[in-house]
Amino acid sequence: MILRILGSAAGGGYPQWNCNCRQCAGLRAGSLRATARSQSSIAVSGDGRSWLLCNASPDIHRQLSRHLPIEPSAPARSSPIAAVLLADGQIDHALGLLLLREHRARLPVWTTAPVRDDLSTTMPLLPILDHYCGVDWHEVPADGEPFTVDGVRGVTVRAFAVPGKPGPYSLHRQAPRPGDNSAFLFTDEHSAQSILYAPGLAAVDKAMHARLAAAAAVLVDGTCFYDDDLARQGISTKTARDMGHLPQSGAGGMVEALAALPSTVRRILTHINNTNPILDEDSAERAFLTERGIEIAYDGMEITL
Ligand code: MLT
Ligand code: MN
Ligand code: ZN
Repeated sequence: MILRILGSAAGGGYPQWNCNCRQCAGLRAGSLRATARSQSSIAVSGDGRSWLLCNASPDIHRQLSRHLPIEPSAPARSSPIAAVLLADGQIDHALGLLLLREHRARLPVWTTAPVRDDLSTTMPLLPILDHYCGVDWHEVPADGEPFTVDGVRGVTVRAFAVPGKPGPYSLHRQAPRPGDNSAFLFTDEHSAQSILYAPGLAAVDKAMHARLAAAAAVLVDGTCFYDDDLARQGISTKTARDMGHLPQSGAGGMVEALAALPSTVRRILTHINNTNPILDEDSAERAFLTERGIEIAYDGMEITL
């Protein structure tokens, strides 16, 4: 099984078009040791040819041409994407669906029922796509029931509803429903090894800790280092927790949760917001993570099991 990271930044990407925070300004000026990142998305494959796209970001075209290019011998219209699976219905994870509208057949889209509801009502991407390629919707069972996706051989998927928030546009923003945010466990059917992917994760409870501990690698919410990353940059008073993301630092933070895992588990942060100081490779916060064996995902990073 191959898991390829197409985009490792949170909504807005890095640098963000209208952001002049320390990280974005420093990257533009070339005064900061840092790497640009596109918006949150991965692809998973059992054979390296046919892929499950997990999250369709607004940067999808550039991500596909860089990291999942069409094979030279492919037919006139072709795609390496067998299906799309969404962890939530937020703009950074879902807007790219519209950009796949030229898909040759109905696009297989896997989401939970609450995400389908949001994407059919307040952000009606699915009905809009019906005027183009059309969508074959499949319900993701968010209770851990294993499922396989047609065309994606050798990979079993399990989804778990996790604490988080639906997009700000959702009628359920202030009263999240189970299934608004999911974590996915991808298991290689041959080696029986797994990767747990949770780009949005507001808390790590006992059950989630056990799932993280049993995985070969975990790729988890790296949105903010401090709960008040945004306030520190003078951008907003919104905290990481207000947005449904667990910050890395502090008591009960992501670093503490990752430190409790067996040393054999590879720990990687993804969905990194442009305001997060860990993007600066020379920052004290980045060194803090490195000392604890925590990696930072980058676009094009690959994990093979
Ligand atoms: C989030 O996960 O909170 C989103 O990245 C926010 C956004 O897309 O603007
Ligand atoms: Mn997001
Ligand atoms: Zn910024």
